Amino acid sequence: MKIKNICCIGAGYVGGPTMAVIAQKCPEINVTVVDINADRIAAWNDEDVENIPIYEPGLSEVVKEARGRNLFFSTNVDSAIDKADMIFISVNTPTKTYGIGKGMAADLKFIELCARQIARVSKNDKIVVEKSTLPVRTAEALKNILDNTGNGVNYQILSNPEFLAEGTAVDDLMNPDRVLIGGDIENPEGKEAVEALVDIYAHWIPRERLLTTNVWSSELSKLTANAFLAQRVSSINAMSELCEKSGADVKEVSKAIGMDSRIGPKFLQASVGFGGSCFQKDILNLVYISKSLGLNEVADYWEQVIIMNDYQKKRFAYKIVQTLFNTVSGKKIAVLGWAFKKDTNDTRESAAIYVADYLLNEQAEIVVYDPKVKTEQIYADLDYLNTRSSEENRAQVSVVDTPYEATKEAHAIAVLTEWDEFKELDWEKIYNEMLKPAFLFDGRRLLERATKEKMGFEFYAIGS
Ligand SMILES: NC(=O)c1ccc[n+]([C@@H]2O[C@H](COP(=O)([O-])OP(=O)(O)OC[C@H]3O[C@@H](n4cnc5c(N)ncnc54)[C@H](O)[C@@H]3O)[C@@H](O)[C@H]2O)c1
Repeated sequence: MKIKNICCIGAGYVGGPTMAVIAQKCPEINVTVVDINADRIAAWNDEDVENIPIYEPGLSEVVKEARGRNLFFSTNVDSAIDKADMIFISVNTPTKTYGIGKGMAADLKFIELCARQIARVSKNDKIVVEKSTLPVRTAEALKNILDNTGNGVNYQILSNPEFLAEGTAVDDLMNPDRVLIGGDIENPEGKEAVEALVDIYAHWIPRERLLTTNVWSSELSKLTANAFLAQRVSSINAMSELCEKSGADVKEVSKAIGMDSRIGPKFLQASVGFGGSCFQKDILNLVYISKSLGLNEVADYWEQVIIMNDYQKKRFAYKIVQTLFNTVSGKKIAVLGWAFKKDTNDTRESAAIYVADYLLNEQAEIVVYDPKVKTEQIYADLDYLNTRSSEENRAQVSVVDTPYEATKEAHAIAVLTEWDEFKELDWEKIYNEMLKPAFLFDGRRLLERATKEKMGFEFYAIGS
């Protein structure tokens, strides 16, 4: 079965980059990415390719090559579904904020809307691919909706979770460790659908890295991968506090354990806590699924990863308050970095939001600098917490265009995103223009302690 037309519903951090790479690597396939957010689609179509809505190193070049050739962005969802042989669902699956499972379960309303729209529009057989991260057995619900509301059309449902990391999305897509494709492999039609998707990825990925499984294993593997990654961060963060109290240095501990081939060196960097749209939401989802199945010990085990992460953010903020003579009221604190990690403009669940919020509760005056995050986004993130009114957020927080404006006459600096450019700042100038004592809190272990202390900074880094 040869795929000629792909539609992807959802032009976000996953849909945009994944489809851009598929289109670049498969010039004979037409790829249309659709979204109900007209502003987002307009930005994807912006004449100046540097204005696309998602910042990822290398992405604008890929979009430039394929856009208008075989890569299209549109708000006409019906038309793209109608034409497609294969439909990727790449919409958001946030944590539910209401009703049963509030604060834990994944909200699947966007997924269900997509299924109903596909069922309404489709006139010929389709392969529907779950690209969004979904609770195990969601494919069953999708199939049910499609089969019962469709017009006699046959659907094959595949699970193809995305493992890209923001900040390195293009590299991850070009050269993935593996691609996971779950399908009804016991069945000839299911097998054929799996093969059709394997053929697409085989344009640029060696076949031995294309892993096929049953649908449930594929769905659950994505939640498991995120839970394991986040658990490593919480594990090293738990040790970071013990290091601070015992005279050990978490950097040395990480190196010592990471050289053990059974443990490995990755994801052992202590920090102010993980953020991003996925880790917390996916673990909460795992906790919810486990609880629903009566597996309370399993649920408690994974929930602890989140509890530790929340604690780490709070601990960092309280460390600032405590060090600044137990009050930050009316004091200017420069926040360097708002994105949840470097090389992305995504701020969802960023540790910076929570650290700033705790400091604002203590009546600090916050000045933020981030090289890629827009001012409106920073206010929107704070407003979303609903801790104080939006007027109060605007009165207490300002956003500036340079790190030097942020740090001038500040009582303290908090480094909350590991942007490379922060390493290269003129720290001598920053020190000279700050109030003294000049406190520098490194929440990412990005800066070198010795040089900063030599300049005169009072330096604190997580874990030592
Ligand atoms: N962001 C990541 O790094 C990442 C990595 C792997 C997996 N995922 C998963 O991928 C999924 C998407 O994540 P994202 O970060 O791209 O989300 P996102 O919020 O950036 O994008 C989702 C898009 O879907 C659109 N949408 C929602 N309902 C729609 C509908 N009915 N019709 C058309 N468009 C609709 C929204 O307008 C939005 O633009 C989630 O399930 C997430 O867990 C994300």
